[in-house]
Amino acid sequence: MEALMQENRVFHPPADFVKGAAIPSMEAYNKLCAEAEKDYDGFWARLANENIYWKKPFTKVLDESKAPFYKWFEDGTTNASYNCLDINVEKGLGNKTAIIFEADDGTVSNVTYQEMLERVCKMANALRKMGIKSGDRVIIYMSMSIEGIVAMQACARIGAIHSVVFGGFSAKSLQERIVDVGACAVITGDEQLRGGKPLPLKVIVDEALTLGGCEKIKNVIVYKRTGGNVAMTAGRDSWMHDVVANESTTCEPEWVSAEHPLFILYTSGSTGKPKGVQHSTGGYLLWAILTMKWTFDIKPEDIFWCTADIGWVTGHSYITYGPLAVGATEIVFEGVPTFPNAGRFWHMIQKHKATIFYTAPTAIRSLIKASSNDEAVHPKSYDLSSLRLLGSVGEPINPEAWMWYYENVGGSRCPIADTFWQTETGGHMISPLPGATPMIPGSCTLPLPGIMAAIVDEAGADVPNGQGGILVVKRPWPSMIRNIWNDPDRFVKSYFPEELGGTLYLAGDGAIRNKDTAYFTITGRIDDVLNVSGHRMGTMEIESCLVANPLVAEAAVVGRPDELTGEAICVFVVLKGGRPTGDDAKKIATELRNWVGKQIGPIAKPKDVRFGDNLPKTRSGKIMRRLLRVIAKGEEITQDTSTLENPAILEQLKEAL
Ligand code: WT7
Repeated sequence: MEALMQENRVFHPPADFVKGAAIPSMEAYNKLCAEAEKDYDGFWARLANENIYWKKPFTKVLDESKAPFYKWFEDGTTNASYNCLDINVEKGLGNKTAIIFEADDGTVSNVTYQEMLERVCKMANALRKMGIKSGDRVIIYMSMSIEGIVAMQACARIGAIHSVVFGGFSAKSLQERIVDVGACAVITGDEQLRGGKPLPLKVIVDEALTLGGCEKIKNVIVYKRTGGNVAMTAGRDSWMHDVVANESTTCEPEWVSAEHPLFILYTSGSTGKPKGVQHSTGGYLLWAILTMKWTFDIKPEDIFWCTADIGWVTGHSYITYGPLAVGATEIVFEGVPTFPNAGRFWHMIQKHKATIFYTAPTAIRSLIKASSNDEAVHPKSYDLSSLRLLGSVGEPINPEAWMWYYENVGGSRCPIADTFWQTETGGHMISPLPGATPMIPGSCTLPLPGIMAAIVDEAGADVPNGQGGILVVKRPWPSMIRNIWNDPDRFVKSYFPEELGGTLYLAGDGAIRNKDTAYFTITGRIDDVLNVSGHRMGTMEIESCLVANPLVAEAAVVGRPDELTGEAICVFVVLKGGRPTGDDAKKIATELRNWVGKQIGPIAKPKDVRFGDNLPKTRSGKIMRRLLRVIAKGEEITQDTSTLENPAILEQLKEAL
């Protein structure tokens, strides 16, 4: 933290970038901020009218009468798919490439806007034929594919609410989401291909549907990707290519209120149960479009590449909706950054002449490592001169990784947008504007125009710059979370807590603003949420999974810093049968890792496992997690342990397996 605050390298936007930029100076940025300050409703109304096609224009901008259940543009009607596809075809972009899809094995297929529109219409018609209506929930459990995007857009077209579940989640995680969201259909694939290996999808869906509570599922639609052998249940399962075969290439969109839910995306919180983050149509889409223009400075000739998966919010905003809504050409990648070798990203940038590249710090760090002793996969072995802008997302980017990215990938010529945001915010919140903001490595710099981000203390009072605190947003913004599906109380408690006065949006991160520049630096989560490789994991989720194992009596989960993944998951376990040692301990540690992998998904597998006869507790029986964090880091405990009931336990917990 100290080192970060003392970072004094400043990188100014390059002159030729500034020339054509959407926001070409700090004056232009300040002007937009001032416009929002002066007339908040007017600012958002202007942008919503300029950027979205409204079937029926809205008459009211922001409705705060049921705060914090804010409503934006509510009496306006629109359709997200229409705004992404029809609009562009009508503008004459029908023959423009919408998607350059590169498969795991390097095969490339391009789709134009006209083709995309036709494919989405066919799929939308097929869904309607199955009886799926506006407001119904559809689970999408697919890998990265044109078909995955078609499935999402087809739902949007008919007003069905999609809930994409990342293809790495287990049958149990999938079933929990199917049940919570009350889905009536699942769209999936036979298998997915990653790094040359087929991995199951349909088999997992089949298993999920046997776990109970999924009786509402009437249809399972399967995209044939690998041709792998899968069972098809008659009357329930159908192939995607069959259901679209005879459908019309036109489909009247469902005109929905701007407040109609576009999607629900589950994310981890402070309890064992994931939260179904509910987003709107109009406000969400507006911000996806504006951030494409402001943060990514998108231009008609750009080749935009966001490496995220459609299973995360980044894939929703910056693959499925944002790039298409601005008529861009984007790269969609099925595979992994290390196959066939760790030069895959650089090779693809060179091959497709990508101009904007948006990825996660964890990927950058692993590629730094992989190329440190292998010239062939180092970015300098590729022609990356097409790039003009880089982006980073998902976790703090450390200054070393920032510098490497800037110099080796961006050729010291491309600005880096370090975009801070969350599943709940719908789009970027704090980020440099590449044609305006001087960049300081490790800082996400300043809030975007219209975003009233601030730092407060535990009572909700502003803290001065230079003093750390809690990151909040003071006013509602169009793309904010609307609700937690099925749990409005949790929505209010999680995001608008009484302790802070009930009106501030609580992001869940700590932050500090620089004394001189007022730039924000994110200091990490302040709740029981870990960030592992840019993926959010609740410690409580992993704890409840562990204690569900028949061997386990008690478990506590904390994070520790990790060079590659940002944070690593460390678990402390008390077994029912006493503390195992030697090979026994190793065997059980592996068993528990696999258990978590099976129950939640491989992304939740603990890195370190430690066994004790007990956990360090206070006399009242409270687990002292701060001590566990110190042990997890491998450091000596220098803190006060006088309230600890059982200090002898600490010695046992030192051994990590
Ligand atoms: C959490 C949100 C944003 C889409 C992908 C992750 C952390 C995200 C940054 C950044 C520092 C960041 C925060 C945030 N985070 N971006 N640029 N700098 N931290 O979405 O899974 O909802 O996670 O990721 O801790 O709260 P998510």
